[in-house]
Amino acid sequence: MTKQQLPEKIEYTAALAVVKDLIRSSLLDSDALVSEMMHHLTLSEGKNFRALLLMAAASDDAGNVPKNALVAAAAMEMLHLASLVHDDVIDNADTRRGLPSVREHYGNKSAVIAGDYLFCKCFLLTAELSEHFQSRFLDIAKTMSKLCLGEMREMQHHGDTALTIRQYFRIIAGKTSALFALALYSGALIGGADEKEARRLARFGHYIGMAFQLTDDCLDYQSDDQTMKKPVRHDLNDGVVTLPLIFALMQKPSLQASLKAPLDTRGAIAVAAEVIALGGVDRTMAVAGKYCDKAEKILDGVLGPKRDLLLSLLEKIKARVY
Ligand code: FPP
Ligand code: MG
Repeated sequence: MTKQQLPEKIEYTAALAVVKDLIRSSLLDSDALVSEMMHHLTLSEGKNFRALLLMAAASDDAGNVPKNALVAAAAMEMLHLASLVHDDVIDNADTRRGLPSVREHYGNKSAVIAGDYLFCKCFLLTAELSEHFQSRFLDIAKTMSKLCLGEMREMQHHGDTALTIRQYFRIIAGKTSALFALALYSGALIGGADEKEARRLARFGHYIGMAFQLTDDCLDYQSDDQTMKKPVRHDLNDGVVTLPLIFALMQKPSLQASLKAPLDTRGAIAVAAEVIALGGVDRTMAVAGKYCDKAEKILDGVLGPKRDLLLSLLEKIKARVY
């Protein structure tokens, strides 16, 4: 479905299929030079949490999503996809969403351009939105800079076993929560909320974004490549210090010695098992739970079907295994 064919509004349960269609047609409608890479990206899909959250925030009392929210949701997923294509270059990751990453398939140089191209596609989608979203360009730019700064901070602290909990929170607030907050904020405004209500929902987005990344960092320790559809123990292998490791190091500072030299697969498996045994993952999941509670509390003030939709997405994030 192209943008011109979009309905004025659509029931929430039917909206994601339309957004996915819009993303596909937008990616496939690409110059021949990049069309193969864009086609590769249509072969797998993510969980679409950001799109679902944006549309839930924009939904009306009858549970319908306005056209502008469909376009914004597609743009949000493209922005997210762009950041992942670049992230896989930075992380040297072989797989993404169960398929070879763009960098693995086409090389780092092409992946950098593919990520940039996706940003442009995101802007093309949002540029033609009605007055609601045009004024939100500034928000997209601000969020992108937060993402970049979060990612830069993470890189700056590679291998830094002295990373504090505060510094870690600052990193994930930038690289992950900022986009969740933007999804909720822009969705709320598109749905007609006032600034105060939009900011309240942005706070909800921030909290679930934090819970999302905390869970992701736990899954990196305890899951496997197949379930996650991307490489696990990447953080340990690549010197990325996250909360499970910070907690484990607080419990047993001598663990630091095992991290001095680069870890091979067996070494990483052994350290991961120790981090789990020292309670690093359980304690981190407890923190994620606290963020979910804070998010749920915000929903106390939200009425109607929107509350149920946001609550069910919160439950999905709590229960996610990949
Ligand atoms: C995944 O983290 C990465 C991000 C959430 C953000 C990446 C951001 C950039 C590359 C900055 C550029 C972005 C913009 C918008 C200009 P992860 O490596 O912990 O997760 P993973 O396990 O899914 O790879
Ligand atoms: Mg990564």
